[in-house]
Amino acid sequence: MSNRLKMPNFAVMEKNLKASLYEEILRDAEALLGQEPDLVARMANAAALLHERMGFFWTGFYRTDGQELVLGPFQGPVACQRIGYGRGVCGTAWAQDRTLVVPDVEAFPGHIACSALSRSEIVVPLHKDGTVVGVLDIDSKALATFDDTDARALEKLCALIAGA
Ligand code: SME
Repeated sequence: MSNRLKMPNFAVMEKNLKASLYEEILRDAEALLGQEPDLVARMANAAALLHERMGFFWTGFYRTDGQELVLGPFQGPVACQRIGYGRGVCGTAWAQDRTLVVPDVEAFPGHIACSALSRSEIVVPLHKDGTVVGVLDIDSKALATFDDTDARALEKLCALIAGA
């Protein structure tokens, strides 16, 4: 049995495998979320779907609340409840209104360590009527887990979640 089969390493997951997993997730999320109007319910099921299918370390959402992000639905270990605008990876993705892929969290100035086990991270903003209403944050225990394939697929997922 190859090493990859014994112990999935998402940092070296083939791009094709990753892309096809995301395609399935996007398809299933569309059916699962349906026309549900409640954003928290949509975030909750999307977090569970992503976390279970991809085996991430932490998968969850923060919602904007004034000048802060407040913890929303997530899967994984307990996390920081509030993050200021422009703080950490999440607050920076919000302030810059763009997806941030962080291959090594220790190299990101101001990274907020909710868990010492987290090594790499991706944060994707969610938009409603042109403004950021929250972010999707995913953490991995491996370095350099996330790339463009994750970024583009997760941007599509966030558009679907916030789109109802
Ligand atoms: N690392 C994030 C904080 C959130 S936790 O990873 C769940 C940040 O720097 O914003």
